[in-house]
Amino acid sequence: MSLPITLDYGYLAPDVTLEQVKPWQDQVDLAHKKVTHGGGLGQDFLGWVDPGKIVSSAEVKAIKEYADRIRSSSDTLVSIGIGGSYLGARAVIEALGEGDGPDVLYAGNSLSAFEHSRLLKKLDGKRFSINAISKSGTTTEPAVAFRILRDLLEQRVGKEEARKRIVATTDAKKGALRRFAEEEGYDTLTIADDVGGRYSVLSPVGLLPIAVAGIDIDALLQGAQDVAAASNNTDLTKNPIYFYAVARNILYRQGFVTEIFSSFEPRMHYVAEWWKQLFGESEGKDHISLFPAAVELTTDLHSMGQWIQEGQRNIIETFVILDGGEPELLIPKADNNLDELGYLEGKTMFEVNHAAYEATSLAHRDGGVPNSTVHLKQLDAYSLGALIYFFERACGISGYLLGINPFNQPGVEAYKTNMFALLGKPKFEDATKAVKEKLSSLPKDTEIAF
Ligand code: PA5
Repeated sequence: MSLPITLDYGYLAPDVTLEQVKPWQDQVDLAHKKVTHGGGLGQDFLGWVDPGKIVSSAEVKAIKEYADRIRSSSDTLVSIGIGGSYLGARAVIEALGEGDGPDVLYAGNSLSAFEHSRLLKKLDGKRFSINAISKSGTTTEPAVAFRILRDLLEQRVGKEEARKRIVATTDAKKGALRRFAEEEGYDTLTIADDVGGRYSVLSPVGLLPIAVAGIDIDALLQGAQDVAAASNNTDLTKNPIYFYAVARNILYRQGFVTEIFSSFEPRMHYVAEWWKQLFGESEGKDHISLFPAAVELTTDLHSMGQWIQEGQRNIIETFVILDGGEPELLIPKADNNLDELGYLEGKTMFEVNHAAYEATSLAHRDGGVPNSTVHLKQLDAYSLGALIYFFERACGISGYLLGINPFNQPGVEAYKTNMFALLGKPKFEDATKAVKEKLSSLPKDTEIAF
């Protein structure tokens, strides 16, 4: 089967060559076993590994029914969630473009009063529905946003009608959102226990907003399933995912501490954000691992391009490039050559953009930035499903090669404890005392005024 995704590793040389990758085969086989059969750290969170099972056909049916209802009753869906309960859906919707369906707006991904006030203004005169998404059902940001938006919806259409316009996506049993939904009689979708937030875009978490936006969720899932099936061949010369996972581990051990996701398509912005979360939250542990960063090209070639070309030589770059399927936009002929663009006449924008990619990857390699390229045949639901799965599987394997648990995120609790302590959340009384003591022992008078 020919899949729409490949990896070109040519510009990783001389830092990484096929000969250096091959000896990792045994370690990769072990990591593969842990990802596909358990036995590794975080083994209770492997529900995403088989995209054919991450969501049942009954759930897909329910998602489509809810999506149809929202599409016919509303001109806007507000998708409430943060982290893994937010970024995947936004990545897919912004990359593929909203179809003929409702606008999808996002809330609960910050605690910004300004952003939430702006959203409330945008909802003026709109018929809107809400999808509240939280696996734990207790995360502060989406819970606060849900309270504000529920209040607005109930004021607009009354409690009875509001109930029909809310879908909660949450744990099967636990958490405040589940209890709330049951009490109020909302429709619900379930996040399986064994699927962590950042691996959940192909579960009901991502699929409902994506379906509301008019995107083909069957094709998205199929793309992931086909790549999942192909990636069971662990041979490093035949598995681009595993090659990529090994290469970034080799480079990390050589002192390359940052990986940059580079795309030449602005509509991939949230795919890069999703990728950053996937690798950042999965691998950023034990004070090791690559820092995931992203640039949008050619835009950032006129800002960060200088740093990438000539800054500290501890970065690697992963391009995600579309090989086709883009609009046929021709550079038009002109009566004169005053703008000196005659050499581009008759070429398409796509050709020019592609030349910019070829030029950039070569320049960065020449400048000492090992880089590889993930090629996508085109950007559609099937290929994007393939790309999502490519990186999810790479992240699981890479995390095991690194020796960390790629499926937990203990570090995110530190800010929460301090925030709950400062805001006086019940049961955080000891933390409140500790935080106050810490704050009072810090140096005073450290603010500089003009
Ligand atoms: O990947 C993760 O697990 C996190 O980013 C979570 O998705 C995020 O913290 C939101 O959690 P929840 O869905 O429980 O509200």
